[in-house]
Amino acid sequence: MSLFVALSVAQSADYSQYVNVFLGTENGGNMFPGVVAAPFAMVKLGPDVTNFTTDAYSGYLPVGNITGFSLMHESGTGGAPKYGVVSQMPVLGAVPNPLVDLGTNRSGPDQGAVGYYKTSLANGIIIEVAATEHAGFYQYTFPAGGASVVVDVSHVLNSFRGLGWGQNYTNGRFGIMRDGHYEGRGTYNNGWNLAPNWDIYFCGYFDAPATSSRTFSGNGTTLASYGRARFTTGKMRQGGVFSFNRETVTSRVGISFISAERACQNVQKEIPRGTTLKTLSNTASSRWNSEVFSKITTTETNSTILTQLYSSLYGMHLIPSNRTGENPLWKSHEPYYDDVFTQWDLFRCSTPLMHVLQPAAYEEQLRSLIDIWRHEGFLPDARSSNYNGRTQGGSNSDNVLADAYVKGVRGAVNWTDGYAAMRTDAEVTPPNNNDPIALDSSTKEGRGALPDWLRYGYITPTYSRAVSRAVEYSVNDFGLRQVAMGLNLGADSAKYLNRSRNWRNHWNPVASSLNFTGFVVPRYANGSFAPYDPLQCGGCYWKDPYYQGLPWEYSFNAHHDMAHLIDLAGGPATFTRRLTKMFEPGIAPANKVTGGMIFNPANEPSFTTPYLFNFVGRQDLSVYYSRMVAKKYYNAGRSGIPGNSDAGAMQTWLLWNMIGLYPLTGQSTFLIGSPWFSQTIALAAGKTLNITVTHTNTNANATVARSSNNSSSNSSSSDAAYYVQSLAVNGKPWTKAWIAWSDVFEHGGTMDFALGAEPVRWATGELPPSPAS
Ligand SMILES: *[C@@H]1O[C@H](CO)[C@@H](O)[C@H](O)[C@H]1NC(C)=O
Ligand SMILES: *[C@@H]1O[C@H](CO)[C@@H](O)[C@H](O)[C@H]1NC(C)=O
Ligand SMILES: *[C@@H]1O[C@H](CO)[C@@H](O)[C@H](O)[C@H]1NC(C)=O
Ligand SMILES: *[C@@H]1O[C@H](CO)[C@@H](O)[C@H](O)[C@H]1NC(C)=O
Ligand SMILES: *[C@@H]1O[C@H](CO)[C@@H](O)[C@H](O)[C@H]1NC(C)=O
Ligand SMILES: *[C@@H]1O[C@H](CO)[C@@H](O)[C@H](O)[C@H]1NC(C)=O
Ligand SMILES: *[C@@H]1O[C@H](CO)[C@@H](O)[C@H](O)[C@H]1NC(C)=O
Ligand SMILES: *[C@@H]1O[C@H](CO)[C@@H](O)[C@H](O)[C@H]1NC(C)=O
Ligand SMILES: *[C@@H]1O[C@H](CO)[C@@H](O)[C@H](O)[C@H]1NC(C)=O
Ligand SMILES: *[C@@H]1O[C@H](CO)[C@@H](O)[C@H](O)[C@H]1NC(C)=O
Ligand SMILES: *[C@@H]1O[C@H](CO)[C@@H](O)[C@H](O)[C@H]1NC(C)=O
Ligand SMILES: *[C@@H]1O[C@H](CO)[C@@H](O)[C@H](O)[C@H]1NC(C)=O
Repeated sequence: MSLFVALSVAQSADYSQYVNVFLGTENGGNMFPGVVAAPFAMVKLGPDVTNFTTDAYSGYLPVGNITGFSLMHESGTGGAPKYGVVSQMPVLGAVPNPLVDLGTNRSGPDQGAVGYYKTSLANGIIIEVAATEHAGFYQYTFPAGGASVVVDVSHVLNSFRGLGWGQNYTNGRFGIMRDGHYEGRGTYNNGWNLAPNWDIYFCGYFDAPATSSRTFSGNGTTLASYGRARFTTGKMRQGGVFSFNRETVTSRVGISFISAERACQNVQKEIPRGTTLKTLSNTASSRWNSEVFSKITTTETNSTILTQLYSSLYGMHLIPSNRTGENPLWKSHEPYYDDVFTQWDLFRCSTPLMHVLQPAAYEEQLRSLIDIWRHEGFLPDARSSNYNGRTQGGSNSDNVLADAYVKGVRGAVNWTDGYAAMRTDAEVTPPNNNDPIALDSSTKEGRGALPDWLRYGYITPTYSRAVSRAVEYSVNDFGLRQVAMGLNLGADSAKYLNRSRNWRNHWNPVASSLNFTGFVVPRYANGSFAPYDPLQCGGCYWKDPYYQGLPWEYSFNAHHDMAHLIDLAGGPATFTRRLTKMFEPGIAPANKVTGGMIFNPANEPSFTTPYLFNFVGRQDLSVYYSRMVAKKYYNAGRSGIPGNSDAGAMQTWLLWNMIGLYPLTGQSTFLIGSPWFSQTIALAAGKTLNITVTHTNTNANATVARSSNNSSSNSSSSDAAYYVQSLAVNGKPWTKAWIAWSDVFEHGGTMDFALGAEPVRWATGELPPSPAS
């Protein structure tokens, strides 16, 4: 009886109360604070703000004018804004010309919660929104005197960066039906991934008859028509204006990539007439509670930490978008996901955590990747609006597939095709898409610099991003080795193991920096190394030898070949000093946000670095530096993540830090850190990983609880005592600084940590594997 009560309380717990939907919306985090009704929902309904200077990547900016509330967004992305399409904009009074800038200031900050968002405009109009997976709901409160809702098919999020990545509206269709609802289609192109034209269909209802409803069209701000015409179509801007003489008006809008009819079915099915805002937002928060937040439960009570935990879980599930049944390009029984943004960002921390927390969605996402290869010839590194691109480094879906394979994911994944897709990346040079920002080779998909990789075993400066691509291609080839080995393809396994070591060909043993020698540097066709300062990366961008990371950083990035890397770097003691150097301030002038620290918490090539001390028997230093990064660069506020979220990548780095483990993608190894609190992680098929934390004094034999009000067991986090004193895995003492997937994830398990204020050499066992060394 009491067990039953405890369980039902746990199941109905409202973790969504801890979520700060504005966490990471400021200082470049680019998070989307609007409504996403369920994990991976296709509709992400929120405000579009402009101040005419700054790109609003997710639509939201804290300062600027509201230009509409649209149904499609990405969360936590960079490059250039994508989507911001299918919008409504409420306007006070009549609208003489719907083509002029209708942007309106807000009267104060927006309010948001899981499943709910509210904006108050300076003119007195209040907009509240909720949503479902394929439809959105608007509730307007108008001041007396009448108001209108403008539906502008040409509305998109603009880019002000001048890099040629701005979206274009190119065509549309808009019609007002006899019963007063509207339907249509918008066609758009470009954005960061240089996409060709793509279509979205929409279908909108108002709950009360409009006092007038008119269509409009025109170019620029010059009206070509505005009035009774029921339909408009073509390249001109167009849409409708619906006027009301009421205090509250609600509207329901569905979208579909297939047809307007399907968009109508989506809204009628998911938001039938009469549905209330409250019902929709309650349904959304209970879905998030049961499908996401309840996956990690804890006895921790500090609300700041709970906010970081549940907001991070929320932030990692906003994209990709589940577009199963909404793929306009081909018919298939496979699931379909879009808005992969990008594997370059996600493969280290996000996809391994997705595997743990959402095994069903994860398997669908893998199948979708392979199905994209089946129908388009290449796996995406990134994809949005049904189009692959861009590829920043290697073909990192290879890493994602390898990670799934070595951890035993089989299910409905066709691994024959999965491996064939990886082999395409490894053997077929993608056609050059002639991207103006890097003309040398494809930025769309695959491995553009493959000709050099195959010919020399390294990448010459003929290719942009030569060194960082070479390091990534090695990791990709290691992924092929892992899957080939599992599929008993012996020759391929040996070949790709060989190729996975080619990062070594960029290692110039005499390149020196800060008294350390040996770094990965540019290398010419004649075999000689280019003179290069390991603290420089040019602009660190598309045309440069290293992409978004210094040579220092990329020289730590062969995580499959660590033993060899440590030898090259001068052995364990020198390697330890070298790693420590990464965290010293005042060294790298290029890294302004870190005060000159080479380690960059805001960028993925740095993600694994703090944990590498585990490879030289200094687990305590991994704990020290990773905890320092987590506490110094993350918080529970609007600027709570260090730079761009990168589609949740930053959030998942933090979550692994809280869990006390760090995945080595493509291997079954997890490096051990230090958990923030006791927790239960729900795994597939009802299994659990239970992690307990007990605080002790520095003498591991004398366990004393630090908490004053609960002396028997203190599981709450401590910012002062976080060094591992001892560990038991599945009840047995553990002396390795790593575990394998099979130890605690495959069948579930327990990890019992004793933590204390002073470092202790507890990890005296076998070092983590270096499979390519
Ligand atoms: C915001 O809109 C107001 C008019 O409502 C206008 O005066 C102001 O310039 C706009 N500001 C921006 C940043 O667009
Ligand atoms: C536009 O918004 C950004 C981000 O909030 C801010 O940094 C910038 O100062 C704003 N610019 C103007 C002109 O308001
Ligand atoms: C916009 O509204 C904010 C308050 O929400 C106010 O601080 C700001 O001055 C307003 N901007 C303009 C241009 O009126
Ligand atoms: C999009 O518009 C820009 C100008 O705003 C133009 O340079 C570019 O060619 C257009 N892209 C496409 C794909 O039509
Ligand atoms: C409006 O612009 C489109 C696209 O640039 C052009 O094809 C069309 O002729 C223009 N129509 C008018 C009425 O100016
Ligand atoms: C909660 O955690 C935060 C972040 O670690 C810390 O600053 C704060 O002091 C803690 N609050 C309490 C009441 O322990
Ligand atoms: C993805 O969407 C399809 C179609 O709506 C649905 O059947 C499937 O369960 C969804 N996947 C997840 C993980 O929610
Ligand atoms: C994998 O897909 C291929 C076609 O792409 C098919 O021939 C093969 O039978 C599939 N394998 C399995 C195990 O379903
Ligand atoms: C691996 O590389 C070595 C040295 O480059 C070469 O001798 C060997 O044949 C290669 N093995 C395979 C299986 O490619
Ligand atoms: C390099 O080593 C020398 C001799 O030990 C020392 O004087 C110098 O300060 C070191 N330079 C740096 C950048 O650490
Ligand atoms: C190798 O090629 C580079 C670039 O063309 C050139 O600067 C260098 O002198 C060459 N080295 C040798 C040894 O030929
Ligand atoms: C893990 O914790 C849950 C919830 O506290 C409990 O029901 C379960 O028995 C524990 N499992 C193990 C293996 O300790």
